[in-house]
Amino acid sequence: MIRIFPDYESLSYAAAGIIVEQSQKTVRDQGFFSLVLSGGQTPRRTYELLSQDAVRNRIPWGKVNIFWSDERCVPQDDPHSNEHMAREAFIDHVPIPPDHIHPIRCTKSPQKSAEEYELLLRSFLTEDSASFDVVLLGVGEDGHTASLFPESESLDEMKRWVLEVHSHHEDFSRVTLALPIINRALLVIFLVSGEAKANTLYKVLDNSLDSCRLPAQLVQPSNGQLIWLVDKEAGRELENKHLNR
Ligand code: 6PG
Repeated sequence: MIRIFPDYESLSYAAAGIIVEQSQKTVRDQGFFSLVLSGGQTPRRTYELLSQDAVRNRIPWGKVNIFWSDERCVPQDDPHSNEHMAREAFIDHVPIPPDHIHPIRCTKSPQKSAEEYELLLRSFLTEDSASFDVVLLGVGEDGHTASLFPESESLDEMKRWVLEVHSHHEDFSRVTLALPIINRALLVIFLVSGEAKANTLYKVLDNSLDSCRLPAQLVQPSNGQLIWLVDKEAGRELENKHLNR
């Protein structure tokens, strides 16, 4: 499903609204709610809205567990840190139990950090069918999502849930969820904003194109729902080519 919004603010409100609805329904049905946060800047406004009274008071924070889709191996207070952004935007302003917050910590080597995060996830998602309730993702201009970059071996990983990424164009490594665990999610929500993403989004969503395997195209929840929340600027080419189905 693709929903195109007039602007970034309305896109962010819609995302926050879905998180409220899903958290309330899931806690009613199963007693807890797992939310995976995307990195990057697009989700910032959505996160800020989660800490505003009108929204914050509608989420059962005591039953929420928060994870990350990926992290850059930088100090916790580094502006590149996805954990830092989310804490600043909402986590430090909502009544979520501290032991329900599960950041990816690159305290050891990226590989060791990936292995440790995978052990944590496997202790949390115990049964074979268990999966995250909501996974938020973004898309880079090169079609990457989480820290799964084009033409990287990580796209072919079929077993591991968490991988280390040695990025060639950044002076830090990353740790990322891999497709096997992302595609087990019950709901994946992509947040895409801005003109700069318009062409990439078109390539990702127009299956008729034989574009090489863009990582964002490989996010296909096996038993879950996939929603694209897009603002008008990012969705321009979709509308031009009537792809906003
Ligand atoms: C990361 C993100 C990454 C992000 C995209 C879009 O840690 O880099 O997880 O996948 O979602 O790069 O980033 P923006 O939202 O900043 O455009």
